[in-house]
Parts: sequence; structure tokens; C-alpha cells
Amino acid sequence: MRFPTDVLAILTDPRTVIRDHRIHVPFQFELEVWRRMNTILKDMGATWDSRKAYRAHVFPHRIEEFMRQCLAAGEYPTRYEQGWFPTPPSLVTQIVDLAGVYPGMTVLEPSAGSGAITSELARRGALVDAYEVDEWRADVLREQGDCRKVFAADFLAQDPLEYTEGFDRVVMNPPFEKGLDHIKHALGFMKKDGTLVSVMTAGLMWWSDKASVQFRKEVEEVGGEIELLPDDSFAACGTNVRTCLVYVPGYPGGPLRTHDWHQRQPQQLGLFDFAA
Ligand SMILES: C[S@@+](CC[C@H](N)C(=O)[O-])C[C@H]1O[C@@H](n2cnc3c(N)ncnc32)[C@H](O)[C@@H]1O
Repeated sequence: MRFPTDVLAILTDPRTVIRDHRIHVPFQFELEVWRRMNTILKDMGATWDSRKAYRAHVFPHRIEEFMRQCLAAGEYPTRYEQGWFPTPPSLVTQIVDLAGVYPGMTVLEPSAGSGAITSELARRGALVDAYEVDEWRADVLREQGDCRKVFAADFLAQDPLEYTEGFDRVVMNPPFEKGLDHIKHALGFMKKDGTLVSVMTAGLMWWSDKASVQFRKEVEEVGGEIELLPDDSFAACGTNVRTCLVYVPGYPGGPLRTHDWHQRQPQQLGLFDFAA
């Protein structure tokens, strides 16, 4: 959900204090705007502490970095409508560490949101290409300037063979709906000896549908791992959605459909091109 302009102006006012678990606005403004802001912050999981010494919105978790992401993007996930979850900073560090990202590596972030992961990748000296289907967030990514390229496009519609070679790393937290489709498609952009690390709905660890079972088998075969994350991993976003971390190392010649696999598929040789 987008913040209304007047509420965004209050929350981004330099006098507004966003620290630890609290948001405190130490100046007077219109009651109507306060009511709108109150509704939004409560949707995000806050309660209003009306005690005179406090007079602040208080969250059950630290809010600083999460609010920075939300205010930069101009939007927020509510407790009810939670399609967009920026990855919390401690988890970003964990996944980028696990991926092993070093200066000069090429890295793909296929569903980059407003750049929680891309900013850390760039900080470590990686050359980052990002996809984001939402035009607004793609603009935020461009403004942040962390990426070599930003595509405002549906990642699932991209052809891996548009790239002459795969990426060293793929690091992602895709939309939870269709998350496995995103991960499998992203493998097509990874070098055969690259690494993919993704956050994913915990259900992937036990779903019994054919695609999930097959994927778990392939991950095991290449020496990868799927590990349950603590329940409060996304608490900073006001949700306790259960998640896991998927680690897939490249394994030349293995079952994964990496960039190399796509390159090895027989190409159509124009056999049916009668117009020629
Ligand atoms: C769970 S959020 C995570 C954002 C970011 N990866 C992060 O870790 O903070 C998923 C993002 O994927 C984007 N998205 C959803 N479907 C997409 C698609 N088909 N192609 C590219 N981006 C997509 C959403 O707009 C959203 O910003």
C-alpha cells in the first residue's frame, strides 16, 4: 500500500524520531492526518502509547531499518495485505554471507523490491543486475544507484539466453506466491559453478507436489541445503510468516538447469521456417 502524501511528509520530516521500536512525532499537525497515520501504523503492527512521557507508536520489534525501506519506497506492507516483504538487515547479511559475494562478481537479484539485498551486494563490490516488476520500486532501485542495470520487468518472462554467460551468484527473496517458479527460473541465469541463495516460504521443506519433491531431490544431489529460518525472521516487517533459506551450489554436469544447461539445448535450426 502506498503512503498518502501527507502521512509520508510527516514520517519523513527530519524532526520525526524513528528509533528502536518507536516512532515519535514531536510536533503538532492536523488531527485528520494523525488519524490516517495512526491507522496505517496500526495496520503495520504498532500500538499507540498515549502516556504523556511517551506519546509514540510502538512496534513489537525494531523498526528503524524497515521504516527506512518503506519510506524510501513510499509504501508499506500491512498485516493483512503483505505481498511485499523487504528482507530485514540481519537476514540480508546472512544470505549474502552464505552466497559468498566478493568484489567484481556478477550477481542477479531477480525480484529486487526496493533494494534491501542489492544495496548490500553493491557494498561488497558486486556488479548487480536487478529485475523488479513494480515500476515504482524499480525507480527506487535506479535512484539508489546500487545496480549496474535495473529492469522494470516480469522476471519470469526473461530468456536466460539473452545473456551470453551466467551470473556468478543469484541472491533473492522472491514473492512467496510462485516462489519456487522464481527460484527454478533464476537457476537458468546462474553459471554452472555459481551459487544461488534464496529466501522461500517454509512450506517448500514439506510440500508433496511433484515440483517441490523434485526440487528438494535436486538440491540434495548437488550438495545444497534447505534450512528452516527462525519464526521471527520477518518480525521486523510486522509478520511472522515462516520461511526457509535455500542454498544451491553449482554442480557442473548435475541435474540443475543452469545457464550452461540452457546453452547446451539443441537450438531450432530454422527447419520449419518455410518463408526463408
Ligand atoms: C518479497 S519482496 C522482496 C523484495 C526484495 N527482494 C527484498 O529482499 O527486499 C518480492 C518482490 O518481488 C517483486 N516481484 C513479484 N513478481 C515479480 C516478477 N514476476 N518479476 C520481478 N519482480 C517481481 C515484487 O514486486 C516485490 O517487490
